[in-house]
Amino acid sequence: MDIKELILKLAKQHDRIKTSDVVKELHNTKSRQYVNSVIRELVNKKLLLKGGATAGSFYVLPQNSRLIGQEITIKLKREDLEEHKVFNDLKEKAPFINDLKENISSILFYAFTEMLNNAIEHSRSQYVEISIRKDKENIIFIVNDFGAGAFRNIMQERKLKSELEAIQDLLKGKTTTQPHSHTGEGIFFTSKIADIFILESFGLRLRIDNIIKDVFIEEMAKQKKGTKVTFTLSLASKKHLSGVFSQFVTESGSVGFDKTEIKVRLYVSGTVYISRSQARRILTGLDKFKTIILDFDRVTTVGQAFADEIFRVFQQIHPDIKIVPINMVEPVRFMIDRVEKPSLS
Ligand SMILES: Nc1ncnc2c1ncn2[C@@H]1O[C@H](COP(=O)(O)OP(=O)(O)OP(=O)(O)O)[C@@H](O)[C@H]1O
Ligand SMILES: [Mg+2]
Repeated sequence: MDIKELILKLAKQHDRIKTSDVVKELHNTKSRQYVNSVIRELVNKKLLLKGGATAGSFYVLPQNSRLIGQEITIKLKREDLEEHKVFNDLKEKAPFINDLKENISSILFYAFTEMLNNAIEHSRSQYVEISIRKDKENIIFIVNDFGAGAFRNIMQERKLKSELEAIQDLLKGKTTTQPHSHTGEGIFFTSKIADIFILESFGLRLRIDNIIKDVFIEEMAKQKKGTKVTFTLSLASKKHLSGVFSQFVTESGSVGFDKTEIKVRLYVSGTVYISRSQARRILTGLDKFKTIILDFDRVTTVGQAFADEIFRVFQQIHPDIKIVPINMVEPVRFMIDRVEKPSLS
């Protein structure tokens, strides 16, 4: 297929394409410069329209012209930024942000300001790059900094062994490196309210997909200096901020984050026998909660010591904490049932 035809075909399939999409489709057989020159020719002939800022240029077919202008990208000096002011400024410059439904608009405000606040207060980066984009289905924002890196920062400040441990603790909620001024809720709630939440930092990508209800921790081929958050929410979403907050309180009607849900599978990779030390890894930091849901989805077995550590030892020290195991297969249920649990008042 002729390269021009291929570009137009890709633009038809994906609505918006970038130079890198075409280079990838050609399996790197043509250089970026060459692909750019062909795209420029198509733009000159008005067969493609160009959108986005220089660094984030994208192209659409003329029939998709409405997608142009539905994106704003800016790069700012981090120092002295205030997240709500930046958001208001973006709204003034990009009117599409004002046309969102009420529930989407309040979620966007919450999630965006939380993630920008993180870049401002934790990253120590010189610059922050921000973009908000609306396409046919989704509203998407990116907050990208070039600083300390979320996983590394947590690992170093909390003296953990690896960035993986930092991710594990982050997923529990209430994990912060600044306990005097922060509570460790931003990433927890933002990642729950998104349809898809991606946090990339140095060699690791944490992807929380709430559509298929799964969490992925992936190694990245290319290192990303600092932290990049990509947040996606469907424009048709019926979610409300209050709905997500209320899922994580023990007593309905009360306020305050005191309930968490842990996917056990993410703490036990690499071994079939699930041990006491792995149980302790799961339990670190969980004394801050009143209810702990332990999701054993895709965990095929646990060791006797693992079950004992959680359901007897920890439970005895924290009799007021409710531990609720869910999604157990028979061998897991058997191990948990045979623990001599402390009698709780
Ligand atoms: N952009 C970032 N750069 C460096 N570290 C980060 C970044 N974003 C998050 N972190 C680390 O992740 C931790 C958790 O972030 P999160 O937003 O969940 O909580 P918090 O900011 O500490 O508290 P809160 O959001 O409730 O004010 C932070 O304390 C910080 O150590
Ligand atoms: Mg925060």
